[in-house]
Amino acid sequence: MILHSVIFAFALLVVCVCSACTTDDECSLNGICVVSTCICDASWFGDDCGRLDLEPATRGTGYNYTTYTDPSYYNTRGNSSWGGQIIHDPQDPALFHLLVDQFAHGCGLSGWRPTSFVARAESRTGPQGPYHWVQNVTGSFRHNTYVHWSPFDQKYLLWTIGVDVPDPKSCKSVSKENWPNNISVSAAQDIKGPWTPFHITINGTNPAPWPLYSPENQTSKITLIAEDLRIFTAERWDAKYSLINSASWNTSDYSRTWAEDPFVWRDKRGHWHALAHWMIDIVEKNGTKYPRVGAHMYARTLEGEWTFKLQEAFNSTVTFTDGSVETFNRRERPKLFFSDDGELTPLYLVSGVQALGSTTTSYTLIQPVGTAWREYEAALGF
Ligand SMILES: *[C@@H]1O[C@H](CO)[C@@H](O)[C@H](O)[C@H]1NC(C)=O
Ligand SMILES: *[C@@H]1O[C@H](CO)[C@@H](O)[C@H](O)[C@H]1NC(C)=O
Ligand SMILES: *[C@@H]1O[C@H](CO)[C@@H](O)[C@H](O)[C@H]1NC(C)=O
Ligand SMILES: *[C@@H]1O[C@H](CO)[C@@H](O)[C@H](O)[C@H]1NC(C)=O
Ligand SMILES: *[C@@H]1O[C@H](CO)[C@@H](O)[C@H](O)[C@H]1NC(C)=O
Ligand SMILES: *[C@@H]1O[C@H](CO)[C@@H](O)[C@H](O)[C@H]1NC(C)=O
Ligand SMILES: *[C@@H]1O[C@H](CO)[C@@H](O)[C@H](O)[C@H]1NC(C)=O
Ligand SMILES: *[C@@H]1O[C@H](CO)[C@@H](O)[C@H](O)[C@H]1NC(C)=O
Ligand SMILES: *[C@@H]1O[C@H](CO)[C@@H](O)[C@H](O)[C@H]1NC(C)=O
Repeated sequence: MILHSVIFAFALLVVCVCSACTTDDECSLNGICVVSTCICDASWFGDDCGRLDLEPATRGTGYNYTTYTDPSYYNTRGNSSWGGQIIHDPQDPALFHLLVDQFAHGCGLSGWRPTSFVARAESRTGPQGPYHWVQNVTGSFRHNTYVHWSPFDQKYLLWTIGVDVPDPKSCKSVSKENWPNNISVSAAQDIKGPWTPFHITINGTNPAPWPLYSPENQTSKITLIAEDLRIFTAERWDAKYSLINSASWNTSDYSRTWAEDPFVWRDKRGHWHALAHWMIDIVEKNGTKYPRVGAHMYARTLEGEWTFKLQEAFNSTVTFTDGSVETFNRRERPKLFFSDDGELTPLYLVSGVQALGSTTTSYTLIQPVGTAWREYEAALGF
């Protein structure tokens, strides 16, 4: 009995020591530290608020047309895709758009360079979809779609990597040397276009922009974050970009902090966050299972100091509303869709996924986060 009490007390002590915080940074800047305890913002959980509170996804939602075929297709991967971004239509509250990286001609993920292009899909059944193809936004080769509304410019800005090339004649992969990743931006008043010709901003890959505009500071300034958390800023979206910071951690392959494809946002307190694909996925590298796939990085200011949390913010296992649980071979390209009430509560996580055992077929999964998405959907009548 005494021994049990001692063990119990010791366990409590350990729990308290582990979870005690002294600053909001120890709550991953996803909450506040109150009397040594992290009070997490909506959609985040854990002792340190470092985990995304993912809810069950619904099968048949997202953008999943891997069985589609067409006589012009070179392969059988259907309309495979690799993540995208949800946009709520500003005029029509019942309409949601998904700008998605799709692979042309039935080619899958392995043919991403050359066949990736940007497509726009629509859903009238809510933000989770299913989304249906309505428009090609670009031809090949365009990948890494990131779109946001720029309040200063009163325009959508569309970011991609790639070059404009003729429609590919096969799914065969093309080298980066032949077709560079040059990060480019285009603008449009309407999400349905027309889009201006792409303007190259920086050399690099995996752009993640965020306007520095706020109602209090109506600046035209913009930030653009690329691979290895290289942070650039520009006076305007189409002006010259200057490097202001780079990741302070080891970014080499197979290092503990090897990550790619950052998704960046500034939260309601003005702090900065990134979600990234924390290398590497399941069954790569000789069948090694890595118990991670989504990394979270954060900083009080854009210039840093940034913290790379060595803990998964989410992983490749997804629970579905039908009760099934699926662990994906790959789950990458994380992008959040936030509430529009000024709280920036994450409502959905969009990612590119590939089933275990699948070599190159892939699709875009949308998974709700936390609980606020329920009210968001209900208020829109879904
Ligand atoms: C995606 O589509 C495939 C093929 O139709 C299906 O097996 C799979 O369950 C779908 N996944 C989701 C999440 O809807
Ligand atoms: C597949 O993508 C093509 C665009 O290349 C489009 O014409 C077709 O409607 C799409 N099919 C489905 C089922 O999404
Ligand atoms: C969409 O773009 C892809 C890539 O350029 C092309 O293969 C496909 O035919 C286009 N589809 C339509 C309907 O324009
Ligand atoms: C595009 O990228 C390549 C290689 O990264 C570089 O050689 C080329 O100069 C870039 N083009 C422009 C216009 O920046
Ligand atoms: C990209 O790199 C090339 C070669 O180093 C350089 O000529 C070009 O100006 C760079 N482009 C940008 C936008 O920085
Ligand atoms: C507005 O924001 C920009 C970009 O962050 C910054 O450079 C500028 O100093 C800010 N202006 C004021 C008045 O705070
Ligand atoms: C970075 O990580 C790589 C791979 O683990 C390792 O070989 C290298 O020594 C590391 N470099 C530093 C400066 O820690
Ligand atoms: C791959 O894994 C197998 C089984 O664990 C092991 O025997 C083999 O040495 C590994 N190969 C490499 C290149 O690491
Ligand atoms: C992901 O996390 C869940 C919950 O902790 C766990 O059950 C699952 O095994 C993890 N999946 C992977 C691939 O690590």
